[in-house]
Amino acid sequence: MLYIGIDLGTSSVKLLLMDEKGKIHGTVSREYPLYFPQPGWSEQKPEDWLAGTMDGLSELLGGADRSEVAGISFGGQMHGLVILDENDEVIRPAILWNDGRTGKETAWLNEEIGKDRLSEYTANIAFAGFTAPKILWIRNNEPENFARIRKIMLPKDYLAYCLSGSFCTDYSDASGMLLLDVKNRTWSEKMCGICGITTDMLPKLYESYEKVGTLKKEIADALGLPDTVVIAAGAGDNAAAAVGTGTVGDGRCNISLGTSGTIFISSDAFRADPHNALHSFAHADGHYHLMGCMLSAASCNKWWLEDILGSTDYAGEQKEIADNAGERLGNNHVFFLPYLMGERSPWNDTNARGTFTGITMDTSRADMTQAVLEGVAFAVRDMYEAAVSAGVTVKRTMICGGGAKSPLWQKMIANILNMPVDLPASEEGPGMGGAMLAMVACGTYGSVQEACDAIVKVAGSVEPDPVLVERYREKYDQFRILYPALREAFGVIA
Ligand code: XUL
Repeated sequence: MLYIGIDLGTSSVKLLLMDEKGKIHGTVSREYPLYFPQPGWSEQKPEDWLAGTMDGLSELLGGADRSEVAGISFGGQMHGLVILDENDEVIRPAILWNDGRTGKETAWLNEEIGKDRLSEYTANIAFAGFTAPKILWIRNNEPENFARIRKIMLPKDYLAYCLSGSFCTDYSDASGMLLLDVKNRTWSEKMCGICGITTDMLPKLYESYEKVGTLKKEIADALGLPDTVVIAAGAGDNAAAAVGTGTVGDGRCNISLGTSGTIFISSDAFRADPHNALHSFAHADGHYHLMGCMLSAASCNKWWLEDILGSTDYAGEQKEIADNAGERLGNNHVFFLPYLMGERSPWNDTNARGTFTGITMDTSRADMTQAVLEGVAFAVRDMYEAAVSAGVTVKRTMICGGGAKSPLWQKMIANILNMPVDLPASEEGPGMGGAMLAMVACGTYGSVQEACDAIVKVAGSVEPDPVLVERYREKYDQFRILYPALREAFGVIA
């Protein structure tokens, strides 16, 4: 049988067709616009997600035996606020995970409601990108839109609703709304009260691998698919990517270098970060995870190359660095802070901004490109240090996302974190995880773990080099001075 994984990302939707052995029969993607109506704001139109998905599905299914398709599921960009009115019309563009407009609402939640109560109700504190502060922002700034809200959902749940008619979400994605009691896997009435909404505006909760319905007849007809095709709840993109890289069970780690950068540590039991630097969320395998999220990761490199250098030759720009890695790595005098959209983990600061520091007359283009890659890797180390302070240790990590295709970046991560980095045989993280969740919903595998054991393969590993580890240890000690030294200045500039 065949299964479709839909990775609803920030730059595009990526669709994948896979059989139960893990063989990929096709991939297709469709881009859509990202709107920045004001500095630090970030929006997309849910209608664009749907149009891109439907169009991409038609192409994906082009050469396939459509009667073989058994299930569809999702990995979706997290935290985005999608609101529908009484006619199921989208009220306004979705406010995305990397939108920083809710500084005031986030501060109000953390300071007035208080971090202790938020942690008690949800296992997390407020971060600007989370969904609840956005609901408060709509209440404070667009009361006419707030009054029209009948359904509140996350990006991938909008797709599931349009494809199946089921108003549903899953525990992993719902964890990032700051409306879920993560530990007890139920909506928090208290948080709904604080946001001025009721639980009937929220979707029904499912495990990621559960069936939420089947394709609507008109959608099935439009795609030439049987209307028995199962729709599974799916997961937030990081939990789906974790499934796609086999990061399930206890104490496994996955690093994702996509538009955002994340470190994802799976856990059989619920645990919270006592310092609140990491998120404590449900996992798509029915258990839990801790996650750090930086808002700009591979997007820093994209910005630097495409917008500033005017180049799309990613490998070419890295060649001089990669060819002289033994000499260059750990010896760069230029530093880059990757806070182009503010920062979530570990700083929780919407005012933080990107900077280059340490530039001299002999600084070259390659030094600055290297600084961008290293700045992202150092910030991943910041999140890893937050995990260590929370009492978590991991011995090795998987890596995925667009940035993970760069052998140079893999090497930097391995040496800056002093940890072997395992490379998955397939790059398709969230899409593959989505397809695997659909397999479990269809009964092809008995559990997410079983699907991972059967499908996920490691293609190779990058080992840390003691010389580079030592050099980078010193460089990281310098890097970590920079944000605290600039924090106040960022506030003044903002
Ligand atoms: C996770 C987060 C991002 C988005 C990116 O908390 O905000 O990783 O899910 O799509």
